[in-house]
Amino acid sequence: MPEGNTRSMTGGGATHRAAACAFIILVLAIYGVENVHAADTTAISVGRPLSGDQHRLVSPGGKFALGFFQPAGGVAGSWYVGIWYNNISVQTPVWVANRLRPVSDPATSRLAIAPDGNLVLFDGRTGSTVWSTEANITADVRNGTVAVLLDTGNLVLALASDASGSAAVLWQSFDHIGDTWLPGGKLRRDKRTGAIQGMVSWRARGDPAPGMYALQLDPDGAPQYVLLWNGTREYWITGNWTGRIFADAPEVAASSGSSGYTFKFVDNDDESYFTYNFADNSTVYRFVTDASGQVKGWFWVEATQAWNLVYAEPKARCAVPRVCGAFGVCSEGASTACDCARGFSPRIPPNWGQGDYTGGCVRNVELQCGKNSSGGGGAAAGSRKAKMDRFLEMDGMRLPDDGRVAGATSSGDCKNACLLNCSCSAYAFNGSCVLWHGDLLNLQDSLGGTAGRLYLRLAASELPGARSHSKWRITVIAVSAASIVVLVVTASVLVVRATRRRWIRARIQGLSAGDGRVISFKYRDLQSITRNFSDKLGGGAFGSVFRGELSSCTAVAVKKLEGLRQGEKQFRAEVSTLGTVQHVNLIRLLGFCSDGGDRKLLVYEYMPNGSLDRHLFRAMPPSYSLSWAARYRIALGVAKGLAYLHYKCRDCIIHCDVKPENILLDAAFAPKVADFGLAKLVGRDFSRVLTTMRGTIGYLAPEWISGEAITPKADVFSYGMTLFEIVSGRRNAEHGAFESAAAASGTDHTTTTFFPVTVARMLAESAEEGDDVTAFLDPELEGNANASELRRVCKVACWCIQDGVDARPTMAEVVQVLEGVTDVETPPVPRYLQVLAGRAMHASDTCV
Ligand SMILES: *[C@@H]1O[C@H](CO)[C@@H](O)[C@H](O)[C@H]1NC(C)=O
Ligand SMILES: *[C@@H]1O[C@H](CO)[C@@H](O)[C@H](O)[C@H]1NC(C)=O
Ligand SMILES: *[C@@H]1O[C@H](CO)[C@@H](O)[C@H](O)[C@H]1NC(C)=O
Ligand SMILES: *[C@@H]1O[C@H](CO)[C@@H](O)[C@H](O)[C@H]1NC(C)=O
Ligand SMILES: *[C@@H]1O[C@H](CO)[C@@H](O)[C@H](O)[C@H]1NC(C)=O
Repeated sequence: MPEGNTRSMTGGGATHRAAACAFIILVLAIYGVENVHAADTTAISVGRPLSGDQHRLVSPGGKFALGFFQPAGGVAGSWYVGIWYNNISVQTPVWVANRLRPVSDPATSRLAIAPDGNLVLFDGRTGSTVWSTEANITADVRNGTVAVLLDTGNLVLALASDASGSAAVLWQSFDHIGDTWLPGGKLRRDKRTGAIQGMVSWRARGDPAPGMYALQLDPDGAPQYVLLWNGTREYWITGNWTGRIFADAPEVAASSGSSGYTFKFVDNDDESYFTYNFADNSTVYRFVTDASGQVKGWFWVEATQAWNLVYAEPKARCAVPRVCGAFGVCSEGASTACDCARGFSPRIPPNWGQGDYTGGCVRNVELQCGKNSSGGGGAAAGSRKAKMDRFLEMDGMRLPDDGRVAGATSSGDCKNACLLNCSCSAYAFNGSCVLWHGDLLNLQDSLGGTAGRLYLRLAASELPGARSHSKWRITVIAVSAASIVVLVVTASVLVVRATRRRWIRARIQGLSAGDGRVISFKYRDLQSITRNFSDKLGGGAFGSVFRGELSSCTAVAVKKLEGLRQGEKQFRAEVSTLGTVQHVNLIRLLGFCSDGGDRKLLVYEYMPNGSLDRHLFRAMPPSYSLSWAARYRIALGVAKGLAYLHYKCRDCIIHCDVKPENILLDAAFAPKVADFGLAKLVGRDFSRVLTTMRGTIGYLAPEWISGEAITPKADVFSYGMTLFEIVSGRRNAEHGAFESAAAASGTDHTTTTFFPVTVARMLAESAEEGDDVTAFLDPELEGNANASELRRVCKVACWCIQDGVDARPTMAEVVQVLEGVTDVETPPVPRYLQVLAGRAMHASDTCV
């Protein structure tokens, strides 16, 4: 991506900056080009084409640039004309002109106004036009068209007509969205032509050609949008827009809460569309339907120089058709969506590493069957050779959906039916026999007992116990000899391991509080402790967590870190710092493992009661629910833990990801905050923190989005959001039940959409110590709560979520209030939330 000086072009005069409407920009673009940096231009007009990889069209405010570029991960020598953010260090194309037909040489290619008035891309090597705006332009104005780039990222082809006329837009890139929907753009349905304009993903990372995934308005005209695979198969749907939220995807409304954007649906005789915009035009945000089939919302955070993921749908990544490609296996909850089935490896490893799995996997070893086609087609010959292939049993699988039922009536016959056909790649038998041929798509694992059992065909050498017919005798001898050796070796390894395990156990038990030492584990120790990582406890943002056992009474949690960018030395330094962080409300780090390469693991104490979200949000048996007293203790404990992190330990640690998932409960339901310090460890790649997605947006302080410096007060904000959920037993974004509760209690706040707003308003309006806050209490508790404690928690929560960093209390102050040492005044309703409520009403007024 060419890095040019963008400031110089605005130096042309204050007029440029003040230019607000497209027309003035157009006029200036034509007549005010003298002061522009040599490589930059403000307009493409007749006789002034754009050519070469240094030449760019830049928007008046310098926010966007257009030019020739090569996408990261693309084929060398494939050049595209695209629009990207001019001031952002990470190459981020938002629109591509010639998605299907790259040019090979930017120096000889030209983006120019053609004789017919259209903007076209001309490939000098082949002498052909590879792309055109294809607008219908009448002959008399053809000489007068110019193309300019606006500060919204919209490329506009218009008439630079005489001063009295208005600039007629002939074509604009906002009417031809690519994979990115920018603020001000429209997801649109043209009611006259029936044409639908949505986002269409890239085919793969580095390949802008239209891919299989598209997000668009409901073709049937309902006020909702859908994600489609291959133009027909719906795999996610927002539910109807109510004027405030989408019925089945309420996060959009919630996200407008913390980021200050308007999101609306417009429906008139000509068109219906969704559009959104930010109150603050310096916000850098984009929605992208990416090659993974998810629609994602990204904020640019200046402070970290990185894109922050704040929204992603569908949350169930495995719901995306073919997300893992052929022979890829999707699993929900793991930190990476896809793995290759055993015996397979990623077809395009670089893409796989960058989260594009759709390329799928290829066999490590070709099947024997069909390998030698000269052997004649006889069934006997076929079956003899086919014996060289074997089957891997895979349990808990979602079966691929294009299987063919065969006549076999037993599992053995079914297996033989598959073996006899060289194209058969798997079978399943559940009473009837189902065979799959060729690529296996849409595999998903870890679904538990109710799901299917699949037998995957592999070359015999890929499975243990492989043997070849011709070498049968030698094998027998070799195996017998080897077994003896193996027996001896295994026995000694077992002895060594047992000894080492005892030693580790002794060391862990010997770790005295306060000395801050952490144990350095060997990878194979952790493998054995966790039984080769077989008991997965969960998949957090930084990696998966497995249960390990040092003995029947000493369990540990082993976290496999992913996406670490730090070197060995830094990692060890960071880990020993974390080892010194010891507080009764913080998870204790016991040890780590780093083999010098990519494998880095952390060993923590094990918390038998899991994370708080499981207790707050999951459907539990009715008799089971955290009591008010337990919730209060948890709220206080978490506050103490965070206060310690912020002020008491050697270096201030900002958690950055406070939410119920990161609050663990010990056997006595005492809370311990988990995952602290990891944001620092993982460093810039912080967006991974947010990839757990579920409701994360609801915990993000506004400064995350505005790009201000992140202070401990960002944690205070997230803590406040968590408090509301502890009170209500529900995600803040899933507030529906409370509207009726509020209405029933006589407080008419049904216009607000966000639970914290409802609470804040009620507190502000009822200065009296009424008991009406119980309306917001988790219905599970049936009103059993200490009213003054409840009120106190609500007040603290409201103070914590104030938009001004200074208005929020410190965690130490929160502790004091919850302990009853000090009292708090009635909090004001957070301003941005008020704005949100107002906007929501406004939006519902304008919608049909
Ligand atoms: C457009 O420009 C060309 C050359 O500059 C000229 O020959 C032609 O007459 C012009 N056409 C119109 C409609 O002005
Ligand atoms: C996509 O849909 C078209 C028809 O709309 C069909 O011909 C094609 O086979 C589909 N592609 C795949 C991979 O199923
Ligand atoms: C953004 O807002 C500022 C202040 O309101 C204004 O001066 C500027 O022109 C705006 N920029 C754009 C691109 O609209
Ligand atoms: C294929 O089979 C033929 C006869 O069955 C044999 O002569 C030949 O060596 C085989 N080739 C391979 C590559 O296995
Ligand atoms: C077996 O699986 C096939 C394909 O998934 C399904 O159509 C069939 O109903 C299943 N039969 C039984 C008995 O579960």
